[in-house]
Formats: sequence, structure tokens, C-alpha cells
Amino acid sequence: MTERRIIDDASFPNEWPKKEDHEGHEVRWKEGVSKEYGVHGVAVAVDFDICIADGICISVCPVNVFDKMDIAAEQEKIDKQIPNDSGKTLLDRWKADPTRERDCIFCRACEIQCPVQAIKITEGVGPFA
Ligand code: F3S
Ligand code: F3S
Ligand code: ZN
Repeated sequence: MTERRIIDDASFPNEWPKKEDHEGHEVRWKEGVSKEYGVHGVAVAVDFDICIADGICISVCPVNVFDKMDIAAEQEKIDKQIPNDSGKTLLDRWKADPTRERDCIFCRACEIQCPVQAIKITEGVGPFA
């Protein structure tokens, strides 16, 4: 099983094309890397193909950047214990969506504490460009 960490991907965000907009932020997608959902947010970037719904990012963010986004299709991975790109199985079927990315103060607590390194923080991009 592949293990991937968006925090280690030097090509994000500059070499990841925009796929669509979602709830006031971009969704970016890289061919050959993204599988199902791509990355939500640019400055506060959550790779939905890696997020396992740990939730520590939501707990530690001092300015409440994230909302839980339910993805019903993820239930199958839980039921069948199928790992995602993190190499780990999901804890729940939602993803941490950086709905209020613009409010980020770059404390990086989310990036440091995510157990599967699904979050990459980059200053001066997205809404901060
Ligand atoms: Fe919150 Fe992470 Fe920014 S914890 S303040 S979204 S760096
Ligand atoms: Fe997902 Fe990591 Fe947050 S697994 S819910 S991005 S702590
Ligand atoms: Zn989103």
C-alpha cells in the first residue's frame, strides 16, 4: 500500500492545477498523484486522499478554520478496512475542509499534529497571494 504525505510534496501548490472551487477555496488536483478527491485549500491545504478523519487539526486550530465535510462514499473504506493514500484505515467518513482558510494565522498546529501529514501550510499563496 502506498504511503503519501502532502507535507513532503515540494510540487504543492505551484505544480498542482486548480480543478474547481469549493466553499470559498480552491480544490487542486495532480494527475498521477490525486486519486479521488484532491487537495482542498491552498495556504491551508488538506489532501482529502490522505485525511483519515483524525480531527486533531479541528481541535487545535485557534481560529476555527476547519469544518467537517461528510463523504458518504468513504463508509465503504471503513467497512472493508481499506487504507487510503496515508496507508492507514479511516477513523470516520468525513474530511477536514478548510472552509475558513482566509482566517489562518499560520500557527501550524494542524500541520504539526496531523498524524498522517495530510495538511501542508504555505504562506503567501491562495487567498494570501
Ligand atoms: Fe489553524 Fe492550521 Fe492555520 S491550526 S491557524 S489552520 S496553520
Ligand atoms: Fe484529517 Fe489530519 Fe485533520 S487526518 S481530520 S487532516 S488531523
Ligand atoms: Zn473544500
